Amino acid sequence: MPVFSNSTNELRTSEIRDLMSLANKPGMILFSGGMPDNDLFPLAEIDKIYNGLTPQEKKVAMQYGPTCGLPELIGSLSEFLSRKGLPVAENKILITTGSLQAINILAKVFIDPGDIILTENPCFIGAISAFKSYQADIKSIPLTGDGINLVLLEEMLNKLEKKPKFIYLTPNFHNPAGTLYSSETKQKLIKLMSGRDIPIIEDDAYSDLYFHDEDRDDLKTLKAIHPAGIDICYTSSFSKIIGPGLRLGWMLVPEQIYAKCELIKQSVDACSPSFTQVIADKFLRSGVVYSYIDKVRTEYKKRAEAMTAALQKYLPDGVTFTVPRGGFYIWLQLPENVDSTDVLKKAIEKGTVFVSGKTFDPAGKKNNFIRLSYCNTPVEKINKGIPIVADAIREMMSPTK
Ligand SMILES: Cc1ncc(COP(=O)(O)O)c(C=O)c1O
Repeated sequence: MPVFSNSTNELRTSEIRDLMSLANKPGMILFSGGMPDNDLFPLAEIDKIYNGLTPQEKKVAMQYGPTCGLPELIGSLSEFLSRKGLPVAENKILITTGSLQAINILAKVFIDPGDIILTENPCFIGAISAFKSYQADIKSIPLTGDGINLVLLEEMLNKLEKKPKFIYLTPNFHNPAGTLYSSETKQKLIKLMSGRDIPIIEDDAYSDLYFHDEDRDDLKTLKAIHPAGIDICYTSSFSKIIGPGLRLGWMLVPEQIYAKCELIKQSVDACSPSFTQVIADKFLRSGVVYSYIDKVRTEYKKRAEAMTAALQKYLPDGVTFTVPRGGFYIWLQLPENVDSTDVLKKAIEKGTVFVSGKTFDPAGKKNNFIRLSYCNTPVEKINKGIPIVADAIREMMSPTK
């Protein structure tokens, strides 16, 4: 019998994965995946980019590259990030194999077994798994409709005997909660974190996918606010603005933290794929990225509006949600006594699937929530599937269930 490491033993396959295998039936309406729609990928643009590469560029694409990323991509990405107001000159970029790798590397850099780290509750499952794999003691703070609950965060910071190694936050279009922190919450958060010497990992995978121009001020990232004296480790990705199959993300971090991360990355995979870095660089440099983001943003907005309207029409009283202003998700809150895994089983029988709440609770318990994704489901399927989800919820809320 092989003896596995303690860190491996902490990881569990989720019950959700098992349920999802039941959901593979043809005709099932999927509200579960957090991936872009295959039909929206910029295939023609990618073909054009590849066919336009010189033999020399193709050779670079096939070769190992520097651990930090190809210099051309770092150049074009610096320009892209500067336009978003990010302090590129004062920090360093590390290209990573998806932004999940950026989060994982930062976790490895900071966490020793038993160290306390702070997250929101709910929290992105990929980050929870990364933090658990390094045996972090995760303390989570509830989200409100306007961002992390600052009163509870302050209480937590004051009561902890050991300083947390970092706080991990997704201020713009949270996965799964869909929340956008207001500028006011961001400012108050910065004030609260000032002088505590606790780094912030700011996960910004979704901020380009906003639906309303008037939210531009609220979208300003913590990193772009650039508060003095707080180390902000910013992570983001090409997954939602070109395609996750590129497996390319990045971190923008202070030099001292970068140096540690680069060492870790050398030992993990030496470098991210040169092939996709060459493509991503041309996608940015040609400016196609901006028209493509506009296109997908319009489509996701349409889907979000369709889902919102259907939920408002069909959901039973007692189920609430915040209307999304960008990103991929709607987070339904059910009455406390309703278990979303039961609702999920019912919904699968009826032909729809979503993700149940406890998947996103670092403690794996709180289960009166449902994550619905609209990103990968066209409007007509949303209109067909939401009444089914609403029925499944109604049945599990009924006293005779
Ligand atoms: C909040 C958040 N962060 C990070 C990621 C990781 O994305 P990737 O590794 O594809 O860049 C995802 C993916 O869904 C996400 O939702």
